[in-house]
Amino acid sequence: MCGIIGCVSSLQSNIPDGVEIMLGGLERLSYRGYDSAGIAVLEENRIKVIKRKGKVAPLAEEVKRVGLQSCIGIAHTRWATHGEPSDKNAHPHLDCKGHIACVHNGIIENYLPLRRHLQQQGHTLLSDTDSEVIVHLVEEHYTGNLEEAVREAIQRLIGSFALVALSQHHPHSLIVARKDCPLIIGCGQGGNFVASDIPVLLSYTKKFIILENGEMAKISVDGVSVSNFSGDKVSKDIQQIEWENGKVDKGGYSHFMLKEIEEQPKSILDTMRGRLNSDGLVKLEGIEFPAGFLSNLQRIYIVACGTAYHAAMIGEHIFEDLLRIPVEVDLASEFRYRNPILDKRSLVIAISQSGETADTLASIAEAQARGSRVLAIVNVVSSTMSRQADWTLHTRAGAEVAVASTKAFTAQQIALFLLALRFSQHAGRIAGGIMEDIAHSLMALPAQVQSILDNSKPVLELCRWLASKDTGNNSGFRFNDCFFIGRGLDDPIAREGALKLREISYINAVAYAAGELKHGNIALITPESPVIALLTQDRVRGKMVSNIMEVIARQAPVIAVAYEDDGQIAEVIPPIADLPSQIIRIPRTIAWLAPILASIPLQLIAYYTGINRGCDVDQPRNLAKSVTVE
Ligand code: AGP
Repeated sequence: MCGIIGCVSSLQSNIPDGVEIMLGGLERLSYRGYDSAGIAVLEENRIKVIKRKGKVAPLAEEVKRVGLQSCIGIAHTRWATHGEPSDKNAHPHLDCKGHIACVHNGIIENYLPLRRHLQQQGHTLLSDTDSEVIVHLVEEHYTGNLEEAVREAIQRLIGSFALVALSQHHPHSLIVARKDCPLIIGCGQGGNFVASDIPVLLSYTKKFIILENGEMAKISVDGVSVSNFSGDKVSKDIQQIEWENGKVDKGGYSHFMLKEIEEQPKSILDTMRGRLNSDGLVKLEGIEFPAGFLSNLQRIYIVACGTAYHAAMIGEHIFEDLLRIPVEVDLASEFRYRNPILDKRSLVIAISQSGETADTLASIAEAQARGSRVLAIVNVVSSTMSRQADWTLHTRAGAEVAVASTKAFTAQQIALFLLALRFSQHAGRIAGGIMEDIAHSLMALPAQVQSILDNSKPVLELCRWLASKDTGNNSGFRFNDCFFIGRGLDDPIAREGALKLREISYINAVAYAAGELKHGNIALITPESPVIALLTQDRVRGKMVSNIMEVIARQAPVIAVAYEDDGQIAEVIPPIADLPSQIIRIPRTIAWLAPILASIPLQLIAYYTGINRGCDVDQPRNLAKSVTVE
């Protein structure tokens, strides 16, 4: 997935220099990928391109050094799908004559045969990317009309694309096209814009045209004309989006990740706010089901990716506990290829922080095509997912900038729990007394999370200990493997803890359902592999202690995440000489909410371990915040 921004204005307009707009936009789009970046502008009717491997900053320095200035251009920040991060593989790509430039987000699945065809026709392709075939196809079809050349070229593409074309023969317009990747047109005073998302343009306009799949547009200084891929004109409304620019800064923190971890008392409270009224009834704005829908509900699927998938796993336990109807959780990337059993009596819940994840968007489309209704749990209000789903329940975690999802994850758990409560209240399945306890436990969460954050000394000591053992090579105690184990609702949290540690510190951390260890995985347990055991589910505590004993029997160093009032666990775990405390304590809460509290220390372990290892904790290598390709 990549970030795209383009602009076309006039010297007479009050819009600042287009180059400045595009570079600033790339910084804000870097959540979509940051392994290379580039810009192409028209200067004296010739295309000038500067593109670099690496983040936006080195590109901006070069652009400023060269003194690039223009009213029309396109820019791109990349997350590599085909072809390593490098200068030559960065976008924009040029046609053979250097008269046309294109940027692309998506994947061209038939790029190899197209590449072979173009080369046989004498085109010289300079990169290893799939995207470069686009500009050469446009060149091949160009006979004086750029819009028609793009229209013909995209008919030959299989896959997904959001693309923008610029030509020196058409110095006052950009041509854009959209299939399965987001593309937004901003309508400004004295100029117009195109970008991958709305927030990046909010500084320059609040008027937007949202392109849908199968639509193209010609964007010029004085207007925007939209058509479909067949060439028919399409009438589009200009939407007024009244959001604040929402520029986010670190607020004094060294990293967004720590800021967002520490914002969780507030984000959890905000996600609950106004949704649990004084008599314990759950009210979810915008979630009004047709008569009979809930009564006829036969099956729920929950689909998501990554951290959101772990929230989905927690949702499965809670929905089945409270509703007693079958719930299935699936990775969004698997869901639509498994021929899911869906009809109007099923509900698909799609969970996503960004609301732009291609796999999850594809699952929504598949579910709706099979007659199922879709409810999205999304953090980004303007996202594609919130427009495509039948209903949207927003997590109110606020902007989450760090690639590692933290506050959105705990907010997703709150949203799922509230939704399950709403469904079970509708079915009359929750007695008043239980609801009172649940409401009390929910309202206690923000303070409990704050207390974990305020008492993070054991986590810091653990991370120091881990760092002291982290030889980073194969001699002695090599902290390159780390295991997380849990049962029941602790299993998805173990997975989430392992994912956080992997993606932030690049340590090969893995998670196992604790009962599964003995079926092969325990072969990996050695005195050099720390095991972090989660002990919040009383229902399976006995079995969990047995699993802890199994790894202790193999001399593995064990750290436990347990309730403050758990007096026995300390007797089970043998002390580690140079680690002051091996038990990370959390306040007691009801089983369904324990994963929220247990998430916090695991997020902190990943953060501080990543820092100790000198990793880029906000933008880890190879990752992007929003994965908009399948
Ligand atoms: C989480 O820390 C990861 N960055 C990643 O797994 C993420 O959760 C996943 O890509 C899903 O993103 P979404 O919630 O925006 O759909």
